[in-house]
Amino acid sequence: MDKILIEGGNRLIGEVSISGSKNAALPILSAALLTDDWNTFYNVPKLKDIATIKTLLLHIGTEIDEDGSTLKIRTRNPETTEAPYELVKTMRASAIVLGPLLTRFKRARVSLPGGCAIGARPMNLHLLALEKMGADIKIESGYIDAKTDRLKGAKIYFDISTVTGTENIMMAAALADGTTILENAACEPEVAELADVLNKMGANIKGAGTDCITIKGVDRLKPATHTVMPDRIEAGTFMIAAGMTKGDILIKNCPMHNLEALTVKLREAGVEIQAESASGGGAVRIKGNNSLRSVDIKTLPYPGFPTDMQAQIMAMMSIANGLSIITENVFENRFMHVSELKRMGADIRIEGRNAIVKGRSSLNSAPVMATDLRASASLILAGLAAEGVTEISRVYHLDRGYEKIEEKLLKLGAKIKRVKE
Ligand code: EPZ
Repeated sequence: MDKILIEGGNRLIGEVSISGSKNAALPILSAALLTDDWNTFYNVPKLKDIATIKTLLLHIGTEIDEDGSTLKIRTRNPETTEAPYELVKTMRASAIVLGPLLTRFKRARVSLPGGCAIGARPMNLHLLALEKMGADIKIESGYIDAKTDRLKGAKIYFDISTVTGTENIMMAAALADGTTILENAACEPEVAELADVLNKMGANIKGAGTDCITIKGVDRLKPATHTVMPDRIEAGTFMIAAGMTKGDILIKNCPMHNLEALTVKLREAGVEIQAESASGGGAVRIKGNNSLRSVDIKTLPYPGFPTDMQAQIMAMMSIANGLSIITENVFENRFMHVSELKRMGADIRIEGRNAIVKGRSSLNSAPVMATDLRASASLILAGLAAEGVTEISRVYHLDRGYEKIEEKLLKLGAKIKRVKE
C-alpha cells in the first residue's frame, strides 16, 4: 500500500485543470448497458472507481475501446446480467447497473453492496421504486434478484433524496412501458448530466436537476456522444487548498454554477473567489491571502452544502479563527476524519451529527490514516497547511476519486510525494 508524504507550509500558486466528474461518469458508463451500438464518451477520468465499473461492465459483456480519456462503449449481447459480490463490495456505486440491466434484459442479479465506512447506505428506495414499476424482486444470499416482462411507468415518491436511486430509476424508466414520475428526486448536477446523455440516446426525460422528473418510456435507445462534466468536488477541494495555504490558484474549467453553496461559505470564511466567467467550465481565480474566519456548515442534498465537501471544509475550519459547527445531515457516520485531524492538533468535538471545531493557529504534522475517499482529501489539505512532514497511509482511498492529485499539487508548488509502504 502506498503512503503520501507532505511537507506543509508552501503557498499553492499556479494553474490546475479539473478532471471529469467521477459521480457523473459512473452512471453515464452504466447507461451504455442500454444501447447495442457504440457510444462515445469524452473526458472520462482515470480513477480507481472508474476502473471498477469498467471491470464490472466487461464482466457483463459490454465492449469498451479506450483511447486516453475517450471511451467507445456498447453492450450488444451480455454474457451475464449478474454483478458479483467480489466487484460490488469494492465499490457500492456498482449497484447503478441494476436499473439498466433490468429494463433492457428483463433480469438482473446484483450483489447488495454491504456496509460502507460512512454509513449503512441501504438500497431500499431503489428496490421499492422498481417494485412499483412491476419488477419481481427477491433478496437472497446477499443478492438482489430482479426480473420483469417489461417495467411499467409509475408515480414514485422518494422518502429521502437519493442520487444513485434517482439515476437507477431514471435509466429503468427510460425503456419502461408508459410514463414514470419521480418526486423528491435528487437534484444533483450529475443527475441532470445523466438525463442529458439518456435524452441524446433518444429517451424522453424532463425536469432532471429539479425534484420532479418525468420519464416517458421508449422502445429502444440509440448510442450517444458526450463529454463528461468537470468534477465539482475536485474543484472544491482545490479551492480549499488555496484558502488553507494562502495560495493563488487559477482553476481552469471550474464548474462554478454547481458550487454555489460552497463558494458562498468560502467567501464568508475570507477566501477570495473571482469567477472569470459565471457560466460552467470557466476559469476561476482563488486567493487565500486573508486570515480565515470560522463558518457554520450544514450538509444537505443539492443545492445545499455537499456532504462530499464536509471533510475538506472541516480541515479548513481547523485553522480558522473562532468556532465552527459542522452538521452532517446526509450520512450517519461521516466523521472518521475527525480523529485523524485531531492527531494533527485540530480541536474538534463531536456531539451526535455535529462537529464543533475550534480553530487553531496551525496544525502539526503527524502519521495519519485515510479511512474513506473524502477523509483522505481532508488529510491532504491538513498536511499542506501543517508544519513539518505529514505521512498519510492507506491512500488507495484517495485514488478512488482524485486523478493525479500529487502531480497537480506538485505543479502548484506543494512538497508532496508518494512512497511505497
Ligand atoms: C451519491 O451516493 C454519491 N456517489 C456520493 O459520493 C454522495 O456522497 C451521495 O450521493 C450524496 O450526495 C455517487 O454518485 C457514485 P444517496 P449515493 O443515495 O447515491 C440514504 C463520493 O465521495 N439512502 O444520495 O449512494 C443513504 O443512506 C461519494 O464521491 C437510503 O436510506 O447516496 C444516505 O443517508 C460518497 N435508502 C442518503 O440516503 C436508499 O435506498 C443519501 O444517499 C438510498 C439512499
